[in-house]
Amino acid sequence: MARLGVGVIGLGHNGLAWCEAYQSCPYTDLRAVCDLDPERLRAASERFSVDGYGGYEILDRADAEIISVHTPDHLHAEPFILALRAGKHVIVEKPMAASLEDLSRMVEAARAASTKSMVAQVLRFHPLFSFVRKMIDNGQLGEIFYLEADYIHDLRYQKYMEKWKVTIEIPILSGGVHPLDLLRWFAGDIVEVYGMANHIAYKEMHEPTTEAALFKFAGGAVGKVAALYGTVSPMVEWYNLCVHGTTGTVRGNRLCLDGNEAWMEIPVPPQQGHPFEAEACHFALCILRDEQPLIDAVEGAKSAQACLLAHQSALEGRPLPVPPL
Ligand SMILES: NC(=O)c1ccc[n+]([C@@H]2O[C@H](COP(=O)([O-])OP(=O)(O)OC[C@H]3O[C@@H](n4cnc5c(N)ncnc54)[C@H](O)[C@@H]3O)[C@@H](O)[C@H]2O)c1
Repeated sequence: MARLGVGVIGLGHNGLAWCEAYQSCPYTDLRAVCDLDPERLRAASERFSVDGYGGYEILDRADAEIISVHTPDHLHAEPFILALRAGKHVIVEKPMAASLEDLSRMVEAARAASTKSMVAQVLRFHPLFSFVRKMIDNGQLGEIFYLEADYIHDLRYQKYMEKWKVTIEIPILSGGVHPLDLLRWFAGDIVEVYGMANHIAYKEMHEPTTEAALFKFAGGAVGKVAALYGTVSPMVEWYNLCVHGTTGTVRGNRLCLDGNEAWMEIPVPPQQGHPFEAEACHFALCILRDEQPLIDAVEGAKSAQACLLAHQSALEGRPLPVPPL
């Protein structure tokens, strides 16, 4: 099958991991990289033996059919929109954007484009979470009435990393969008959110480092997501996922079905790193086969929107409606 050429914009830890994924995926070829930081650009260009660009001239590369955006959370919109306008297929890292204004500009650009776009919500590519989604689709859990999942991670080391991770990053958005997107994948659209926050742990960060929110789904289910960046513990297993349906419950990698009141283990490989290669291959195959990506721009925007409104709700101390996109 044909290979699609890829240009990667943003060469931090995440962008470099994606460069590796594009080199490993049998449907993609990494052709060019781009970063504003000349040292990061030189190192990546040498490491992957591809051309390097210090700006958006990378979009002029005709042999880069896919542009992959890995800039900081609040800097996704510009490269995403410019790449779509240049006729590229575009992957953008989660969270899709860090403001409601950017989200609507990006959705508008994606709707106007004839090319495909995808938001890299990586947990949808994990075998356990795909298994849970299949069980829900097959009706094995019955009607879903409550779900929760968390992003509880000791990220205090980020104070020694890039400045935006302390001054700009929003935990319920940047971390919380992982579990929130899972909940949306399992239970559908959200109509209302009520967030609460404190700033007791990891005070070096500008934004509150403990944020929890309740979500009301259009189908009636209730959900909860917590994002904690200052915890003193290893990262929780399986994102503390818990899904309660009228005929079955999933708790992490365990399952209980009605009529058999014991936990059974779900046979999936242990959680190890992020399946970026699976995401890259999925997007390339969607382009080659003209299929809809698993998380298109509207799906990705809905997850980021719910997190941003959870944050706003916590700051304002009142529940907020989640308008349709
Ligand atoms: N899916 C995941 O599990 C996961 C994990 C880590 C990070 N991320 C996401 O990936 C993104 C990048 O994170 P990171 O940790 O690599 O950040 P980082 O700050 O280390 O790297 C971002 C890079 O983008 C570059 N950049 C900024 N503006 C640019 C522009 N206009 N043109 C070209 N380059 C530009 C910066 O110079 C920097 O090198 C973030 O959105 C983050 O939330 C996702």
